[in-house]
Amino acid sequence: MIDLKSAEDVSRMRAACAAAARVLHDLATLVVPGISTAGLDSAARGLMVRHGCESACHGYVVGRLSYPGYVCISVNDEIVHGIGAADRIIRDGDLVSLDVVVRRDGFIGDNARTVMVGAVDPRARQLCVDTEKSLMAGIAAVKPGNRVGDISAAIQEALTHGGYGIVRDFVGHGVGRKMHEEPQIPNYGKAGTGPKLLPGMALAIEPMVNLGSHKIVMASDGWTARTADGKVSAHFEHTVLVTENGAEILTLV
Ligand code: MF3
Ligand code: CO
Repeated sequence: MIDLKSAEDVSRMRAACAAAARVLHDLATLVVPGISTAGLDSAARGLMVRHGCESACHGYVVGRLSYPGYVCISVNDEIVHGIGAADRIIRDGDLVSLDVVVRRDGFIGDNARTVMVGAVDPRARQLCVDTEKSLMAGIAAVKPGNRVGDISAAIQEALTHGGYGIVRDFVGHGVGRKMHEEPQIPNYGKAGTGPKLLPGMALAIEPMVNLGSHKIVMASDGWTARTADGKVSAHFEHTVLVTENGAEILTLV
């Protein structure tokens, strides 16, 4: 069952997503050489207070593990769910993926982007540009009557020319009172397949794309996913609402 948001739910989703977008926007400006990822995480904690929301990641439980950070910070070959650390210092040329998931008034806003620090390798730069483009292509496929597979296929199609590895082990998702609701939204797939999109659905669309192979390895912390081949990865995400006219992006600043 895919939850359909009421008008009341939608106004609360709007507020949560606006807060998530502001936190991500402000946090991105702090990503400069010399700061540690622990410094970014504690800055994010302060930004959430300022913007009237709380971390939905902190204390999030998967199996026997509870997520210790306030946001996810994934550097270079780290794909998603990286944990801030005092000894992980941002350097010129790094790709820093920030994933901000907040709760406000009982609803979740979820968004992510990869920040390029200074003089980034041209292929890594192109990866970021293309990953964001694939997100926008996926969002453009959101309209009532289309299916989840149309979003997946649009993302995949937007990435075909690059020879990239599209991550398969993590997917986009429905979002609302919980961070992860139905449906799952893979970043590859067949048009015309999967559940039908209806007005009132809220979706977090989030391509994760590697410069090399799609294969991942999990770090010993149980959270951080990195590329198996050590090449860099990018991640862009918006929360969108399905409306009569198409997608409304809720996580714009
Ligand atoms: N946007 C990520 C996701 O949808 C956020 C995960 S928060 C964590 O999976 F607590 F699981 F790290
Ligand atoms: Co998400």
